[in-house]
Parts: sequence; structure tokens; C-alpha cells
Amino acid sequence: MECIEITGGRRLCGEVQVSGAKNAALPLIAATLLMPGRHALRNVPRLRDVTTIATLLEGFGVAITRQDETLFLDTRHLRHAEAPYDLVRTMRASILVLGPLLARLGRARVSLPGGCAIGARPVDQHLKGLAAMGAEIALRHGYIEASASRLRGVHFTFDIATVTGTENLLMAAALAEGTTVLENAAREPEVQNLAAGLRRMGCAIEGDGTPRLCIEGRRELRELDIDIIPDRVEAGTLLIAAAITGGTVTVRGCRAEHLGALLEKLEATGARLACGHDGVSVTAPERLRPVDITTLPYPGFPTDLQAQAMALLSLAAGDSVITETVFENRLLHTAELRRMGANIRVDGRTACVRGVPRLEGATVMATDLRASACLVLAGLAAANSTRVLRVYHLDRGYERLDEKLAKLGADIRRVRIPQGY
Ligand code: UD1
Repeated sequence: MECIEITGGRRLCGEVQVSGAKNAALPLIAATLLMPGRHALRNVPRLRDVTTIATLLEGFGVAITRQDETLFLDTRHLRHAEAPYDLVRTMRASILVLGPLLARLGRARVSLPGGCAIGARPVDQHLKGLAAMGAEIALRHGYIEASASRLRGVHFTFDIATVTGTENLLMAAALAEGTTVLENAAREPEVQNLAAGLRRMGCAIEGDGTPRLCIEGRRELRELDIDIIPDRVEAGTLLIAAAITGGTVTVRGCRAEHLGALLEKLEATGARLACGHDGVSVTAPERLRPVDITTLPYPGFPTDLQAQAMALLSLAAGDSVITETVFENRLLHTAELRRMGANIRVDGRTACVRGVPRLEGATVMATDLRASACLVLAGLAAANSTRVLRVYHLDRGYERLDEKLAKLGADIRRVRIPQGY
């Protein structure tokens, strides 16, 4: 097993390139199931979650090859439509194959994802929407069993804005008969990237980026060839890394328009920003001012950057209040930050962060993907040495984060540790 070892205290400085977005790559990979053909996805990051969904698709009969950052998927010979528990349990986003499999093959069997560390995370909205489109859905032995002759267009309002739920219905609607209108849909840039992909496949979609999506279904679609957008969560993590070390960093490829809520908060801490067409630069102040943050669906402050922002604010000169409204249990990293000397009090979904002058290195354990990034950031700023265990969480969603940080001047490395940690 590996852990990440960091000796804190180095100011980061220089330029770094952001990778393609995990959360855009996963639905676009699933979307290739909609149409038999040879598809190309460009700027696909090398991540464990991408490998997981690729393994899932290979199980259906999809042939996948990679050339540099491009993934080629041959979906002409699907022979299987079952997503097994062993893969789904390692990545909840596997549920994204449900809509496309059902729309193309008329049937799908997908293991029901369980709860996870950050909350119960039900998929009721996915199932309710597909049922409204005419699917027969049964839950048997821990699996979702769905069938339909041809899905039909429907007017559906989500009870709660869900990212992968919107993506599943968007993909299903692309092959449905007639027009589908989705209200209270998710507006995230990754949903917009999927909509752009489906448009390239020949489907007519309006309203992406708004809460009302209108999709005209097609009997057939074309092959997909599209660029994955840059990862706004990775970009945000790198900007925060610069800010927490008092450094100056340019994140190439970072799209300021996708990170409005974070950039506003970074400016409020006293950081100086420069946004260009090819990236965003940040210069940190000597001592950060506190700010309050409430996570919300896009374009609000992303829940996927909440943990990293907490690491930053634990070193601010004053009190910040962080409220997590998207997931019910996404403050688990506070316990580990406290072990590094942070002063944080949690009450329900709210964390009161009283800034301390410095953090102390410690051995800490990541509980989920973004929590692991938070602990790496804290380690960059902490005195002495920090060891972050359970690095596999980090590798699910960050492409060589340790190497990118090292190139910016961080003292960070991977170390082999005995099994069982
Ligand atoms: C996606 C992202 C994840 C991000 C999250 C919120 C991907 C692969 N993952 O996850 O990184 O943290 O959006 O921005 O894109 N909910 C229901 N019923 C449902 C579906 C969701 O109650 O059927 C609830 C969830 O429990 C949660 C909220 O809705 O409280 C938002 O979740 P959702 O947007 O669905 O998150 P994911 O799509 O799983």
C-alpha cells in the first residue's frame, strides 16, 4: 500500500496544467452506449474512476483503447447489460449506465449503489424519472431491474436537483420517442458537456445550463467525438493549494466561468486573482481573512471543494462558518484536521472554523476523495511531516496530484507502507 508523505512549509509557485474533468468523462463514456459505433473522447484523465467505468463497459462487450489522452470506445457489439455489485460498490457513478443501456437495449440490470461515507445518496430520482418515461422497474436481490420497449418523452420535475440523475434522464431521453422536458435539472458544467456530446450525436437539446432541459429524442444517433472539459474541482484544489502555502500559481486550462463561487471566496480571503482565456493565477496574501461558505448546487459553491476550503480557512485570521447543504455527512475531514491542530467545532451540517496560526504535521486518514485532497493541502501548510493514509481515495479523482504539487515546489512523495494501514 502507499501513503503520501509531505513536509510542509514550502510556498508553491509556477504553472500547472489541469486535467480533464472526471465528472464529465464518466457520463460521456456512458453515453457511448447509446449508439453502436466507434466513439472518441478526448482529454480523458487517467483516474481510477475512469478505469472502473471502462471495466464496466468492457463487461458489456465494449472494446476500449487509449492513445495518449484520447479514449476510443467501440460499442458495436454489446452482449451484456448487467452492472455487477463488485464494480458499482467501488464507484456509485456506475449508475450512469442505467439510462443508456435501457434506452438502447430495452433492458438493464444495475446493482443498487449502497450508502457511502458522505451520506445515504439514494437514486430514487433516477428511477422515478425512468419510470415516468415508461420503464418497468423492479428492485430484486439488491439490483435495479429495468425494462422498456421504447422509452417515451415525458415532462418530469426532479424533487431535488441531482447531477447524475439529470445525466441519466438526459441520455435516456436522447433515444426516447418524442420530446422530454426536465424541470429542476442540474446545471453543472459537466451536465452541459454531456448535452454538448449528445448534440454532436444528433440529438436536439435546449436549455443546458438552466434548470429546464428540453430534449427531442431520436431513433438513431451518430458516433461521438468530443473534448472533455477541464476539471474545475482539480483546478480549484490547485488554486487553494497555492493560497494555503502563501504562493503564486497559474492553473492552465482552468475556466474562471466554471469556478465563480470559489474565486469570489478566494478574493474575499485576500488572495489576488488574474483570470485569462487560458487559465487563472492566484497570489496568496501573508495571512488569510476568514469567509463564510455554504455549499449549493451549481452555480453555488461546490460541495466537492468544501473540504479543501476548510483546510484553507483553518489557517485564516478569524472565524469562518462552513455549511454543507448538499450531502448530510460531509464534514468527516474535520476530525482529521483537528488532529493537525485545527480549531473546528461541528454542529450538524455546520462547521465553525476558528483560524489558528499554524497546523502541525500528523498521520491522518482520508475518508473519501475530497477529504483526501483536504488533508494533502493541510499537509502542505503544516509544520513538519504529514502522512496521508488511504491514498486510493485521492487516485479515484485526481491525476497525479502529488506529482503536480511537487513540480510547483512542494516537498511531497509517495511512500510504500505495510498492508493494513
Ligand atoms: C455528483 C458528482 C459528485 C458531487 C455531487 C454534487 C459525479 C460523478 N459526481 O454526484 O462529485 O459531489 O454531484 O455536486 O458527477 N439525491 C437524492 N435522490 C436521488 C439523487 C440524489 O435524494 O435520486 C440527493 C443526494 O443524496 C444528495 C443530493 O441529492 O444529497 C445531490 O446529489 P447528486 O447531485 O445526485 O450527486 P451525484 O450525482 O451522486
